[in-house]
Amino acid sequence: MAQVTIHVPPRPYQARIENGLLARAGALLVELLPQSSSVFVVTVPPVRRRWGTKLIRSLVSAGFKPQVVQMPDGEPAKKLAIIETLAERLVRLGADRKAVLIALGGGVVGDVTGLLASLYMRGVELVQIPTTVLAQVDASVGGKTGVNLGAGKNLLGTYHHPRVVLIDPEVLHTLSDRAFRSGLYEALKCGIIGDLDLFLRFEQKRTQILKRDPVEIEGLIAQSVKLKAEIVSADEQEGGLRRVLNLGHTIGHALEVETGYRTLLHGEAVAWGMIAATNIALTVGRTDSVTAGRIADAVLSLGRLPEVKVSAHKILARLQADKKTQNGAVHFVLPREIGKVEIAADVPDKVIIDAVEELRRISRGGWVWKK
Ligand SMILES: NC(=O)c1ccc[n+]([C@@H]2O[C@H](COP(=O)([O-])OP(=O)(O)OC[C@H]3O[C@@H](n4cnc5c(N)ncnc54)[C@H](O)[C@@H]3O)[C@@H](O)[C@H]2O)c1
Ligand SMILES: [Zn+2]
Repeated sequence: MAQVTIHVPPRPYQARIENGLLARAGALLVELLPQSSSVFVVTVPPVRRRWGTKLIRSLVSAGFKPQVVQMPDGEPAKKLAIIETLAERLVRLGADRKAVLIALGGGVVGDVTGLLASLYMRGVELVQIPTTVLAQVDASVGGKTGVNLGAGKNLLGTYHHPRVVLIDPEVLHTLSDRAFRSGLYEALKCGIIGDLDLFLRFEQKRTQILKRDPVEIEGLIAQSVKLKAEIVSADEQEGGLRRVLNLGHTIGHALEVETGYRTLLHGEAVAWGMIAATNIALTVGRTDSVTAGRIADAVLSLGRLPEVKVSAHKILARLQADKKTQNGAVHFVLPREIGKVEIAADVPDKVIIDAVEELRRISRGGWVWKK
């Protein structure tokens, strides 16, 4: 089993990564929590149907008496009203200050359960059991919780670190191909920002990764979590270093907003954003063409991405509107070499426009990937 420690105040915690871990969750939690704890599994119907029984059995055989609390599936459920509904339900089920909430699901379940755990009776224990690639490599580690407002995503939230993160890559087998690949882009991002070895996995083991080879996937997730844990440990609340995790997110986020979150999954938007950032880095002389080519190849060879149709000027306008929330400047994380990035706040508008135009061109089939 791979174990990664996240060093944050007031208490460090671990992420444990192993195929088949879900069936051993009860045994592991018994070592960390008093057996008398009342545990509540928060999940959504599609995940409960596929993986709920395995977790519940494991908890019961370890002596817990778990209760399941279901929430509606999907991003629209990530709103404050759901927190109140779930909290009322917890009260009715007898949850007190010693309750432990277990988030079983993707990033939505993790973010909602995390926020609920930080507010319920002024804070109860949280366990993250992420079930999407995105949640396993990104959302479950780092303590950010939140819900959306009409005005934007994740505008209400807290930092509430879990007691432990239990990652079982086997649960990813029931994900659709598209959802699976979308999460992979966030793992690839970890390689580009800080782990050459992880990046090489994508170059050298692409076929095994796309076939979801269990050993490959377990290793890839462990390495991504390790990178994220190192960054979060050094900078818990996004003072500086943590911003490198936003590689691909400046333009990625603008693409998501401009397409109304309908045509691109989050990871796909980040994939396009990473290609744009790489092009920008090349244009402004922060990286060389060999590095840029390797990054673009690694992204594009994971599969076809949805076409970018939105106009480059709209993306630029969106970035400029977002400036207010980013201390008056548009920040880009730019790759320098594989495993090294830097933050730039001085990218000329014309360079941004050209980079988005390039995405439109590539996405219409203007890129030939050399095997
Ligand atoms: N807290 C953080 O640091 C952080 C970081 C990144 C993203 N996020 C948040 O994460 C959310 C996106 O997460 P997501 O991509 O996991 O989306 P999601 O939670 O909506 O899950 C996607 C879909 O997959 C289904 N699903 C989950 N696990 C499955 C499985 N094993 N088999 C089959 N289906 C399964 C879900 O029911 C859902 O329909 C966003 O709201 C984003 O803001 C948070
Ligand atoms: Zn992301």
